[in-house]
Amino acid sequence: MRAKKTTILGSDKASITRAATIIKEGGLVAFPTETVFGLGADATNKNALNKIFKAKGRPRDNPLIVHIHCLEQLNIFARNVPEEAYKLAHHFWPGPLSLVLQRSENLPDIVSAGLDTVAIRMPSNEIALDLIIQAGVPVAAPSANLSGSPSPTTAMHVLADLTGKVNAIINSSCTIGLESTVLDLTSCQPVILRPGGVSIYQLEAVLGFKVLQVKEVLAETTPMSPGMKYRHYSPKTPLVLITGRKYTRKTVLNNLLKHYRTRGLKTIHLNKFIGNLSRTPLNVDIFARLMYDALRKADHLSGDLILAEQLDENGLGEAIMNRLRKAATRIIRVK
Ligand code: TXA
Ligand code: MG
Repeated sequence: MRAKKTTILGSDKASITRAATIIKEGGLVAFPTETVFGLGADATNKNALNKIFKAKGRPRDNPLIVHIHCLEQLNIFARNVPEEAYKLAHHFWPGPLSLVLQRSENLPDIVSAGLDTVAIRMPSNEIALDLIIQAGVPVAAPSANLSGSPSPTTAMHVLADLTGKVNAIINSSCTIGLESTVLDLTSCQPVILRPGGVSIYQLEAVLGFKVLQVKEVLAETTPMSPGMKYRHYSPKTPLVLITGRKYTRKTVLNNLLKHYRTRGLKTIHLNKFIGNLSRTPLNVDIFARLMYDALRKADHLSGDLILAEQLDENGLGEAIMNRLRKAATRIIRVK
């Protein structure tokens, strides 16, 4: 099925059935999950998977996450599943946790870009679950954006990036707004490859032992997760991130804002901008939910520069900082 026209579907039963048929026939459907919108295709169909890479302009060595709807599917699409995976799945699925496991022969190698591992996740969004059930196949889905741009949290974001490249988009919303935690369970100790909706403390509490973070085990030159070596989540406007001690950070930020404004440059202070978008007092969860939308909106304002200030790395703060560091064209570390 070739995508020339992109249909916007509702989230009613009949629309989900239509979306599932598109997936069964080898087409692409963008659908909401609790994290971000996914660009879904039949994970067992090489042709359909190929279309995902093409539509996104995704590097061929960056593997996809396979979405399932029940625990029984874990054993079908992964092999030698360790006990820890079941423990975590019982606790956090359906939800924002992707587990990297050994890939079974029931999935083609293109799904994981030739790796012998595969990332598997059971999303909690009801529309996503219903879509996977009705499609009757596991659904491979990266975030439904053009490679490198901010992830989509609304159908409009998907439309802006992928019109004519995806057969249908299910119109709904995402509650978390940031991608899942990716946890590698294929080495002797679990390693977080990407922080997300489930924190290291939550994982350690369930497992009862230490979980590593990729920064603790990674030499810069050998990314464990292929996606880590690419620039990500980036608005078109240059983004400068200021980190370090709060007091100094604020002073540097205010000086920079003044400096650019007196030179006639339009500068957007991201934290304040998100505060203005939020109708309720800002906290880390609301920041996460609105961040990608704010980065896209900032681009529409045609500013010269986005200035972002570090957040405390509690709860979703860690995942937010991970995304901002990757999105930044420059990081200013103050003492
Ligand atoms: O929340 C999410 O995870 C969303 C929704 C749609 O589920 N999906 C998502 O997919 O963020 P994507 O493709 O944008 O990011 C997947 C990340 C990439 O950094 C990729 O390199 C990594 O997971 N990944 C996937 N399979 C892997 C594997 N077998 N080994 C190591 N890393 C893997
Ligand atoms: Mg992505």
